[in-house]
Amino acid sequence: MKSFIRKLFYRSAVFQWLVGVGSTAIGRTRAAGMAHLLSYREDDAIGPLQRDEAIALFGIVRTLRPKVVVEFGFFHGHSAFNFLQAMTPDAQLYSYDIDAESQRRALSEFAFDRRFHFLAKSQTDFAAEDIGNRKIDFVFFDAAHELDLNQATFRKIFPHLTADAMVAVHDTGLWHRPHFGSIHREFVEEMPGEWESADLYAHQPGEREFIDWIQATEPGFGALHFHTSETLRHGFTLLQRQRRLSDHGGQARETGGRGELAVEPECGNDAHGVASEIEHIVETKPVAEGGLRGLDGQREKDGQRQHSTRTDEAGDGQRRCK
Ligand SMILES: C[S@@+](CC[C@H](N)C(=O)[O-])C[C@H]1O[C@@H](n2cnc3c(N)ncnc32)[C@H](O)[C@@H]1O
Repeated sequence: MKSFIRKLFYRSAVFQWLVGVGSTAIGRTRAAGMAHLLSYREDDAIGPLQRDEAIALFGIVRTLRPKVVVEFGFFHGHSAFNFLQAMTPDAQLYSYDIDAESQRRALSEFAFDRRFHFLAKSQTDFAAEDIGNRKIDFVFFDAAHELDLNQATFRKIFPHLTADAMVAVHDTGLWHRPHFGSIHREFVEEMPGEWESADLYAHQPGEREFIDWIQATEPGFGALHFHTSETLRHGFTLLQRQRRLSDHGGQARETGGRGELAVEPECGNDAHGVASEIEHIVETKPVAEGGLRGLDGQREKDGQRQHSTRTDEAGDGQRRCK
């Protein structure tokens, strides 16, 4: 009988739905809060993020449980509502937009949710006071699409990122010509994107340059690109500071190190061939404190790499544990 029910479950969407409703009704599981995604557009979404991207971001936020989410680019609230649906009751979303209609819609349609805060100001005017001087766990760039404005914004938020903060940037992918609809052909005619090849079009080249700039100036950040040419995809990129999971610092961060620096590896690690990792941590530590050395062009000060208190400043080029 159980086997029959399982077979029915895997083959019938209606039965899956009935089992899901029953499961939540008896309290075995909780509702996923994804009903809104059924109405989100996919192929012809141009302003808002595409539905499959919303599903991915929903899952990421639901997985990470960020407490402070910052969004640049509210528009009509698709991404904002998606974040709110994924966020925990004690999390806060701060959404920035300069458009009057976005402000009107945000204030009238989102007022019911006390976790939501609309900032009628440019992304470049971000101030720590806007978010109650708290650290940012997750930030979503989807506003100006211009490299210089994103750079200025990143410089502002950088000191306020937690050590493991996730930075998501929308519109970093390429459109593949065989999947164009009429809305994409119109966009290409009117907007100054760039053809990367005969078939691949960068609809927001500034966002792609922004990713390259972050990684060039802050090489401690790794990036994952959610891009494909198998369908029409705007694409998004996730960035996060890289670290080794086997370091004690990693555990410290995951268990409450929000807003703090990586705990450095034990001295013994030096002798076990992980000097390069120590180098990495030494190099990125002040950056996480808000020094923004790379972005200020001061990573190499007078030709000398700055050392942490944990290194020997004997001047012989060797690092020693204190
Ligand atoms: C692509 S839409 C955002 C879409 C939204 N994230 C979604 O998925 O539903 C871009 C929005 O950014 C806003 N915007 C443009 N420049 C901005 C700036 N400098 N600061 C803040 N918002 C800006 C626009 O008014 C527009 O509403």
